Amino acid sequence: MGSEPRKIMVSSALPYANGYMHMGHLVEYIQSDIWARFQKLRGHQCTFVCAADTHGTPIMIKARQENISPEELVTRIAAEQHEDLKAFDVAFDNFHTTHSEENEMLTCRMFEALRDADYIYTKTIEQAFDEQEKMFLPDRFVKGTCPRCKTEEQYGDACENCGATYTPNDLIEPVSVLSGSKPVWKDSEHYFFRLSAFEQRLRDWMQTAKLHQNITSKLEEWFEAGLQDWDISRDAPYFGFKIPGTEDKYFYVWLDAPVGYLASFLHYCNQHDDLNFDDYWMPGHDTEVYHFIGKDIVYFHTLFWPAVLEGSGFRTPNSVFAHGFLTINGKKMSKSRGTFIKARTVSDNLDPSCLRYYYAAKLGPGMDDIDLNFDDFIARVNSDLVGKLVNIASRCAGFIAKRFDGQLADELCDPQLFAQFSDASEEIATHFERREYSKAIRAVMTLADTANRYIDDKKPWVMAKNEDQADEVQAVCTQGLNMFRSLMVYLTPVVPALAEKSRQFFDEDEWAWATATTPLLGRKINKFKPLLTRVEPAQVEKMVEQSKEPEVTTAEKPQESDSDEITIDDFAKVDLRVARIEKAEPVEGADKLLQLTLNLGDQSRVVFAGIKAAYTPEQLEGRLVVAVANLKPRKMRFGTSQGMVLAAGPGGEDIFLLSADSGAEPGMRIK
Ligand code: 2FM
Ligand code: ZN
Repeated sequence: MGSEPRKIMVSSALPYANGYMHMGHLVEYIQSDIWARFQKLRGHQCTFVCAADTHGTPIMIKARQENISPEELVTRIAAEQHEDLKAFDVAFDNFHTTHSEENEMLTCRMFEALRDADYIYTKTIEQAFDEQEKMFLPDRFVKGTCPRCKTEEQYGDACENCGATYTPNDLIEPVSVLSGSKPVWKDSEHYFFRLSAFEQRLRDWMQTAKLHQNITSKLEEWFEAGLQDWDISRDAPYFGFKIPGTEDKYFYVWLDAPVGYLASFLHYCNQHDDLNFDDYWMPGHDTEVYHFIGKDIVYFHTLFWPAVLEGSGFRTPNSVFAHGFLTINGKKMSKSRGTFIKARTVSDNLDPSCLRYYYAAKLGPGMDDIDLNFDDFIARVNSDLVGKLVNIASRCAGFIAKRFDGQLADELCDPQLFAQFSDASEEIATHFERREYSKAIRAVMTLADTANRYIDDKKPWVMAKNEDQADEVQAVCTQGLNMFRSLMVYLTPVVPALAEKSRQFFDEDEWAWATATTPLLGRKINKFKPLLTRVEPAQVEKMVEQSKEPEVTTAEKPQESDSDEITIDDFAKVDLRVARIEKAEPVEGADKLLQLTLNLGDQSRVVFAGIKAAYTPEQLEGRLVVAVANLKPRKMRFGTSQGMVLAAGPGGEDIFLLSADSGAEPGMRIK
């Protein structure tokens, strides 16, 4: 650890203030809270901020339905969400709101700086308009029949049955979900942010931010496809901030939402003299900024957000950390199965430390989804937290209290053994720093096994029967309790409530990371109170029962499928054909792409394939490959890709084209 404390600002994504917190949300809040707590425990100045994400059409509509103002709605929901998070020991230094003075001031300041630097332009676009409600309709507020597969009741942006993407204008018999009327198409002037001007700067930032490989691969794809300028305005009526100099245009919620990180921090700085906003948000300072987010909002945080900051004269984040989604018992969360569980239902039925521990035991630095399997959850919490960790203390504490009046021995009887615990400090710290929480947990639990083996060997309960061995009992139990104490210090970021009770048991004022490396000796400690009891299957069953709701029909919400599986009928929709690569050419300005001209028997298609690192054009020409013939054409920066050739492999040079049988003819269907 460097000698100077680091100055760090950490954020987690701002929850929309129109619903309740559920177990899926908790993954991120717990992940980021662990990291912020870890930094503080290491002695760094770390400020952890969040806010309610309050703007946008869905919130405005929900407030109308409840017959209250949007302000009332978001204030109520934000307070509930914040309470739910506090129940899980998520300890923001500041939980603010995007509907705040600070946010409006900062959003306008950024917009004006972008406009003055010529990064903003206006363009007239055509959009669905509800004449009864007198408002423009976001894509998801228009429904109709999918133009491709003819499934009814599909949203205006994509079909949930066949996966086609389109605009509301393409829907057959579109209707407004607000009034049921047929929308008309109307022109409106919108404000666009020139994201396309930032490609090189974003590429540079991507390198310095040392983003996880999962994110850089995504970014590479987006760069290859070409960055599209971004529509940052919405027409009135809208719940949000008015764009300066306009009467009826508002900032799109996704513009002011990330500004909410700064606004929350500014609000906090205004109450804390030791924190200076500019030190963290103007370029050229030795401070660090990190955002924790879910994998669904990587685009906003790694393209729009750094570009907006850069273009408006602010500094960019040091990094963005994205996590995957939560599945329960291997499947998507589902209301009918009772696995769409509110945070409140969990905290009503279980000690929140259990979920914090389980998530930590599953979390790594990447975007892989994590699965909460109920049987595994119960087994893991009971065996690790209760059976291994807390057990160390319960096996030793009673003897110290009853026989020695709470007094610890003056020396460790096995300093070498304790050294194993203190020497692990930096390795465990590195795991936390890198968000390798599962590795940190594994290291702690391996030491817990060592501590339990020590107690098993020494058997203080046998020694205690022999008056002559009194000193030894005190020494062994002091050793055991010190090993427990070190492990509890290491787990403080993960299970702060258990750590707090343990700190009180040891009668200490404060714990820091270094506490784990110095034993506590020759002092009186308090009576031990049980820290945690076993999780019973009935508690989990109750939680599931309380969460069961009847399935909602597709007319009201998208259908939940059991998993990411597709049926044989879905697969049969893929039209696989033998194709001959007639021509393969490099694409100017694209590092990874080749332009392939495919012969599919009766037709020829141009397809862009990211296989340049694996094949030279000469190796490809004349080759028979497997192609997807019915893929919707995709507009890319270099042209439109009219299909796809199938390949497999980890990427880079190791991409292997699937070759069709030598006897096959172009156009032949593969069944
Ligand atoms: O996806 C969401 O839930 C958004 N409310 C997250 C916003 S994060 C940030 F940009 F404000
Ligand atoms: Zn469809």
